[in-house]
Amino acid sequence: MTQELWTAVDRYITDLFVPPDPVLDAALQTSATSGLPPHNVSPNQGKLLLLLAKIQGARTILEIGTLGGYSTIWLARALPTDGRLITLEADPKHAEVARANIARAGLTDKVELRLGRALDTLPQLAAESRDPFDLIFIDADKPSNPDYFAWALKLSRRGTLIIADNVVRNGAVVDATSNDASVQGVRRFNELLAAEPRVSATAIQTVGSKGYDGFAIAIVTADQ
Ligand code: SAH
Ligand code: DHB
Ligand code: MG
Repeated sequence: MTQELWTAVDRYITDLFVPPDPVLDAALQTSATSGLPPHNVSPNQGKLLLLLAKIQGARTILEIGTLGGYSTIWLARALPTDGRLITLEADPKHAEVARANIARAGLTDKVELRLGRALDTLPQLAAESRDPFDLIFIDADKPSNPDYFAWALKLSRRGTLIIADNVVRNGAVVDATSNDASVQGVRRFNELLAAEPRVSATAIQTVGSKGYDGFAIAIVTADQ
């Protein structure tokens, strides 16, 4: 099995299930031309996020890690008219590209981008008396994943869906001795998720145009 084949199959799947979309295509295009890293979810993964948000009936979504707003647009499109998404981004340049992409998508009224390191903006968010989120997507710096999971729980209710990207890292996740801080962050996150009595969770390996990685998915089963 090769990257070439995974990419070809992703193209086959995307051609079938994800028709060309000027807004999403422009989001990827402007992200690339602005020099953002190609760390966005793939088109069929974006569609999966939309489907999960719809299945969840999500009216409020929190995203940690915006980049150019590609996954943001997919998730926000799953929201009802009065739905809201807050997305957290530390890099001003990424935020600027994302804001333009969100505006082009006509989602400015639904999406609020908060600029700042998530470990600074999450406590602010938690201090505002707001209802818990229906869905939380964790996709920022991986060494902070254990902290993001703790904040996600604080911002959850029974029934909240928590999704984390990049929990397999090309298989490196099985290396307990890895000295890669991202691998250790993801390992610790997976362990916390597995041991947490307030959630029911699993992880799924994925291959595709973005290589070999995976998603973790958890439902909050207890009141917070
Ligand atoms: N969710 C996006 C991809 C996010 S890539 C998509 O699929 O389209 C990870 C993003 O997290 C990057 O834009 C990076 O700048 C941001 N990031 C890294 N560290 C962060 C931090 N401490 N707080 C908030 N965002 C951070
Ligand atoms: C990286 C981050 C991501 O969110 C992703 O989807 C792929 C790669 C990274 O930091 O390498
Ligand atoms: Mg990711």
